[in-house]
Amino acid sequence: MQIIRDIATLRRAVAALKQGGKSVALVPTMGALHEGHLSLVRMGRRVADHVVVSIFVNPTQFGPNEDYAAYPRDEARDAALLAQEKVSLLWAPDVDVMYPGGHSTHIEVAELGADYCGAARPGHFDGVATVVAKLFNQVHPDMAIFGEKDWQQLAIIRRMARDLDFGLDILGAPIARDSDGLALSSRNAYLSKDERAAAVAFPNALKAAAAAIAAGADVETSLTEAATAIHAGGFEHVDYVALADADSLERLTEFRAPARLLAAARIGNTRLIDNWPVG
Ligand code: PAJ
Repeated sequence: MQIIRDIATLRRAVAALKQGGKSVALVPTMGALHEGHLSLVRMGRRVADHVVVSIFVNPTQFGPNEDYAAYPRDEARDAALLAQEKVSLLWAPDVDVMYPGGHSTHIEVAELGADYCGAARPGHFDGVATVVAKLFNQVHPDMAIFGEKDWQQLAIIRRMARDLDFGLDILGAPIARDSDGLALSSRNAYLSKDERAAAVAFPNALKAAAAAIAAGADVETSLTEAATAIHAGGFEHVDYVALADADSLERLTEFRAPARLLAAARIGNTRLIDNWPVG
């Protein structure tokens, strides 16, 4: 597996991978890899001839009081995991390669980025959309794979790729969960032992609310009950628990398929997100 840090070398290496009509799947990440990331890599190996993974902790998607500096970084460990998964190329640019001085162009996917995590983290999705657009232009993959774990992010990237005619396929991969149901996340590393044990209340509340809503329970009541259960489980703050149209992300007050429960909550200093299909 090659580890590449400059754009000219990257372009030559991807062109070499594509020789003979071979296809390339891109899996963008911020590193601190876990089984969720690796499940995306494995999907890439099934759908394409080569998998390219990027690791870039993107400063523009972190707010001023967020965890950019503290975000877990261990490239040597990540690279070893990716080599085992037969990844062809690791694209790991430094910040000044991604954002040379004077960088001033941004992408905003206005409609889909305003609510939910976009409301709680102003500018976050502009940072995500901009860096993902840059990654697409740097790597020129045939397809790119994102996790359903970040449902709003996936919807925004699909819309951006369509709106700006990127001409590549966006594939969503199912959420990888721990044995107790907590969605795997690089940020789970921040949880104390007690917080980690308590965090299971989060997916449990979403699962229960999804089942209730699918069975015809009142949406508002079910969302309130879910928030109450998350609080009772030890979370200090519930940013949102919402029922959304799975594609447009429009808030729903009555259930209609396809719908998804979207949620974010804070336990200790850690903000977790999750989502659950309804029906
Ligand atoms: P990161 O949080 O590292 O996640 C990289 C990819 O892994 C995303 O597509 C995310 O949805 C997916 N992922 C994370 N946990 C998962 C899980 N438990 N199951 C399935 N997929 C999971 O998301 C980002 O990085 C960044 O915003 C990025 C897209 C790389 C842009 O900077």
